[in-house]
Amino acid sequence: MQNDRMAWFRGGDAECSVPPPKRRHPHRLVLLGPPGVGKGTQAELLCKVLKTCHLSTGDVFRAAAGQADPNPALAWALDAMKRGELVSDDLVVGVVAERTRCLQCWGGFLLDGFPRTASQAVALDTILHEHDLSLDAVVHYDLSIDELVGRLSGRRTCRQCKAIYHVQARPPRVEGTCDACGGGLVQRADDQPAAIRVRMEIYETETKPLIHYYATTGRLLTVPADGATEAVLDQTLQALDRKRQTVTL
Ligand code: AP5
Repeated sequence: MQNDRMAWFRGGDAECSVPPPKRRHPHRLVLLGPPGVGKGTQAELLCKVLKTCHLSTGDVFRAAAGQADPNPALAWALDAMKRGELVSDDLVVGVVAERTRCLQCWGGFLLDGFPRTASQAVALDTILHEHDLSLDAVVHYDLSIDELVGRLSGRRTCRQCKAIYHVQARPPRVEGTCDACGGGLVQRADDQPAAIRVRMEIYETETKPLIHYYATTGRLLTVPADGATEAVLDQTLQALDRKRQTVTL
């Protein structure tokens, strides 16, 4: 059974009703890569195999978009998201810091969409260090710009459980309906062409430098993302296995 991510969505003292199973060596991972490369798709699949939890900062903000009266900082953040811009470092780091319990979870974690600036990467290192935790690896997915745009424009997401589909590459069994929970599928506001362009530019300037940051500290694993989803999953698991073997040798 998949854990419910309630603690991640609510923050603070909230607890998951279905916590992940206890692991002796939980995986603590970051997924890095441009918009549309398949981080969320791989996170869903990896969590099932590794029995860990998908922690997406984008999902937290999108869930908050449903609030009737968001506070001014959140309303500003939601507007920035629609335009394809980043939410401020202070707000994002605050959101993650409020959810430190998820980083300490005995099931480990799979961070998706955080960190995506140099200062967020430093903040994550600080939070982990304070709790005597460390990252096992940062999985960097790589794909050409043309394929990224095709993936983003055909993406559909479940309104309820956030499962990810693609109209051609990963269609649901019934058009417009989530296979997993029966929820309605929607297109994200930031998957419009103008916002996609902004997101790609910001990735190049703000997030791509993190590849070097993690490579220099020996935590980077680069995986080509151009195959079918299951092939990309296999390559990711193999890369993680190789990394664990090197560490335990
Ligand atoms: P976020 O939600 O993190 O979005 P993103 O990083 O732009 O990434 P996406 O979710 O768009 O793509 P993905 O790589 O997960 O691809 P997916 O698996 O869906 O952030 C959104 C916004 O929130 C940001 O722009 C920012 O405003 C704000 N934000 C969030 N975190 C922040 C932070 N830390 N700092 C500041 N601001 C922050 O796949 C895409 C499509 O491709 C799907 O349709 C899928 O079915 C398909 N697909 C996947 N894999 C394959 C495959 N192998 N073959 C064919 N199709 C595939």
